Amino acid sequence: MSELNTKKKPDHYREDCNRIASVYDPLVRSLSSFFGGERSLRMLTIEKMELKPHQKVLDVCCGTGTLCAMIAEEVGGGGEVIGIDLAENMLKRAEKKRRGNMSFSLANAEEIPYPDEYFDCACITFGLHEMPHPVRMNVLREMRRVLKAGGIIVVLDYLRPTGALVRSLFNVWMLVEGVTARDFIKRDLSSIVRDSGFDSVELDIHWMKTLQIVRGRK
Ligand SMILES: C[S@@+](CC[C@H](N)C(=O)[O-])C[C@H]1O[C@@H](n2cnc3c(N)ncnc32)[C@H](O)[C@@H]1O
Repeated sequence: MSELNTKKKPDHYREDCNRIASVYDPLVRSLSSFFGGERSLRMLTIEKMELKPHQKVLDVCCGTGTLCAMIAEEVGGGGEVIGIDLAENMLKRAEKKRRGNMSFSLANAEEIPYPDEYFDCACITFGLHEMPHPVRMNVLREMRRVLKAGGIIVVLDYLRPTGALVRSLFNVWMLVEGVTARDFIKRDLSSIVRDSGFDSVELDIHWMKTLQIVRGRK
């Protein structure tokens, strides 16, 4: 997990994610408590992946590995769940949630260390808003490369809400999130997923229209 040192991380990468690792899980738990809790948040992605036992699943920008642990339950002992991330401190926390069918690697999402067509499903949750747009496109194309034909991609991330009050609060949160997030919410995620080569793209909206989940197929 430690072969990639800080010097080799891509220029766009913000070490903030590494620094907040110790408070990340409590933060997600408190924010999601307004919308039904973290388990129901994570289930949005799991339901869209239509997981089956024995599948191989990739979680890109896996953070502290909570979603990976839930995916691992779905695919069972014969399945394989891989989480990749660039934050060593996030991955240290993920390691504590690891079971037999899970593994974590310190890796850049633009260079996923797996062969073509290895995975049945791939997801990225709250990851794309952390990157500049050209990097987002590289990451989605790289996820497509490692998916089998017919494989499913699920992307969950912010959506700019339309209602005035929610939008004001959301805009304050975007100031905290930073410049790449503010760029992300101006774009159309479904088109981004389509432009990176996926078909059958579907969109669902949750959390008072502040969250979107896009599914596509290779
Ligand atoms: C906001 S966290 C999301 C974590 C997790 N997916 C979740 O849903 O809670 C974003 C994660 O993206 C990772 N990240 C950002 N750019 C990356 C890249 N190029 N390659 C791998 N991980 C990256 C960060 O280290 C961070 O852990």
